[in-house]
Amino acid sequence: MTRTARAYTNIALIKYWGKKNKQLKLPYTNSLSLTLDRFYTDTLATTIDNDKDIITLNDQLLNDAESKRIRNYLDTVRQMYSFDEHFQIKTTNHVPTSAGFASSASGFAALAGAINETKQLNLDKKQLSILARNGSGSASRSIYGGFVEWNAGFDNESSFAVPIDETPDIDLTLLSVVINQHSKKVSSTVGMENSVKTSPFYSNWVTLVSSEIKEIKQAIAQKDLQKIGEISEHNAMSMHALTLSANPSFTYFAPETIRIIQLIKEIRQKGIFAYATIDAGPNVKIICTKESIQRVQTYIEQQLSNVTTVVANIGHGIEYI
Ligand code: DP6
Repeated sequence: MTRTARAYTNIALIKYWGKKNKQLKLPYTNSLSLTLDRFYTDTLATTIDNDKDIITLNDQLLNDAESKRIRNYLDTVRQMYSFDEHFQIKTTNHVPTSAGFASSASGFAALAGAINETKQLNLDKKQLSILARNGSGSASRSIYGGFVEWNAGFDNESSFAVPIDETPDIDLTLLSVVINQHSKKVSSTVGMENSVKTSPFYSNWVTLVSSEIKEIKQAIAQKDLQKIGEISEHNAMSMHALTLSANPSFTYFAPETIRIIQLIKEIRQKGIFAYATIDAGPNVKIICTKESIQRVQTYIEQQLSNVTTVVANIGHGIEYI
């Protein structure tokens, strides 16, 4: 019986922001993430006798426009592994509707896993990470749990994620502060492309990431929470500086995003552990400890009435159920 693949989402502490090869999704830099436990995607793939893939998301049949990215990906997979069958893909996103997490990381990791399962490709985790990366860069990291590094590499075979510590004994937990549900105006794919092409600071970003990756790996090994928080926050702000310095400039920040960044600084001044990281959208993820998270959550909810918060812990890698 074909099993369903389940993959969890991840949050990058050192961000992937820019591709040197669009088709293969080869990044300019390494990136480093933490896999989360609460938000995941379940995908079941079955081969069908049809000349077109049939794709449902949360029990809704996707039309051609909605399923284009997935169908293109399936074409890539067919080419990579030299077969031509089509698939029925049933995907369920277990990301609370208000969590503010992108689903492309868990989504393409689960899809890669589901195809591996139904086609009995017997891929190891490295090959699975490569397959997931071809769908979405950040998906390469969702194959593993805990702290994961995606090595940029230079071609399809050398660009994949590796686990740093899949079950870290470390006191980190994440508070996602959701500002709004509106779909983002600039996708990460387009946003990073514009940043690479037009930000005068892009080459500085590449240099910065290579030193921050080294520093954060050291901090993780030493369980230096403050260092991990400081580096993560600085890396996220530096990524967003690439959007502001693009030409034309753009930003993912909403007014509330900036307000939350200010609140996090206030919280820190009170001696409470809290650091911000932000992806390609307005929502803020706050890196907390088990001790600080309750106070951070209360503080944010008291100051801002129109936000929702969701707590997530460290999660594990892809599994089959
Ligand atoms: C800001 O992986 O969604 O979340 O490869 O074009 O699908 P594509 O981009 P995607 O970009 C993620 C960007 C980010 C940072 C990160 O997760 O590393």
